[in-house]
Amino acid sequence: MYSLLVQMHSYLRYFLLFLLLFLIIRSFYYWQKRLPYNTQTNIIGLYLLICTHLQLVLGLILYFISPYVSLTNFSSAMKDKVQRFFTVEHASIMLLAIILITVARIGARRLQTDEAKHKRLFFLNTLALILILGGIPWPFREAIGQGRHLLFHFF
Ligand code: HEM
Repeated sequence: MYSLLVQMHSYLRYFLLFLLLFLIIRSFYYWQKRLPYNTQTNIIGLYLLICTHLQLVLGLILYFISPYVSLTNFSSAMKDKVQRFFTVEHASIMLLAIILITVARIGARRLQTDEAKHKRLFFLNTLALILILGGIPWPFREAIGQGRHLLFHFF
């Protein structure tokens, strides 16, 4: 069960990153070309929101069952790079990114002009992308990424 959840959490990052990048490029293009905010943009944003919140649910479950998170012995966990990363850094960076993606969507829909909508989507989602890329325990990251794979079990 635990390993299945880690796998799902690991794979879902690629759907999330793909949708996020797609929405960023699209909103930038539509903003620059002054094109209307349309149903497709809205649907991509909705899929991204679903994906992001699913990742949040998986992350929250993992937070309470993962051996890499230590809540009972918090002070000694802070001295260990890997435990500190998953207990504090990864969770808080990703929560912030999820808040940005959520605010980008809700905020954009409330704005009056299409230009303002695309601009908001572009800036907040770009910030979220930077945070996510920095907060992922990539296999090439020293200590944190040790034993992790780009594609679970493959490479
Ligand atoms: C945008 C959202 C997120 C992304 C893209 C993301 C991505 C990842 C990735 C790629 C891993 C490594 C999986 C592997 O070994 O292949 C991971 C691990 C983990 N994530 Fe997240 N995460 C996100 C949000 C969260 C949140 C919000 C939490 C908790 C509140 C969380 C908790 C964890 C934990 C505890 C692990 C370690 C699992 C283990 O190996 O035991 N994640 N995350």
